[in-house]
Amino acid sequence: MAIERTLSIIKPDAVAKNVIGKIYSRFETNGLKVIAAKLAWLSPQEAGAFYAVHQERPFFKDLVSFMISGPVMIQVLEGESAIAKNRELMGATDPKKAEPGTIRADFAESIDANAVHGSDGEDTAKNEIAFFFPAMAVYSGR
Ligand code: CMP
Repeated sequence: MAIERTLSIIKPDAVAKNVIGKIYSRFETNGLKVIAAKLAWLSPQEAGAFYAVHQERPFFKDLVSFMISGPVMIQVLEGESAIAKNRELMGATDPKKAEPGTIRADFAESIDANAVHGSDGEDTAKNEIAFFFPAMAVYSGR
């Protein structure tokens, strides 16, 4: 087990529901520390570039439209096995399949409006953190 960092986004649906604090509480009570954060309203270019890996998928256009439909809360989480831990706390991508008690089971409505995003592996975490917090890579060496 190692101390890791991961990128988390609270999506427009959850920000609109006013549950940023409730979701942060899940992170904090499960050993994840918020070490950087910003509230932002993404442009179509930013959302498209962030999700570029999905650009050939049929849901790409809807995903970008949804992600620019309102502000998002973006944070870097740090802790023991942070990448896997955050994914466990989020639950399955489709909230209908998410385990009870997970963030998506409790706060999400659909596979598009699914409350949160979290990096899915070490390389993704590094790239996604650098995408939104470029200075962190420079100063931390992580
Ligand atoms: P996220 O973890 O942010 O990564 C990509 C997003 O695409 C995903 O959450 C979902 O909100 C959205 N999405 C929509 N349809 C699908 C699908 N069929 N498979 C995976 N992700 C999907």
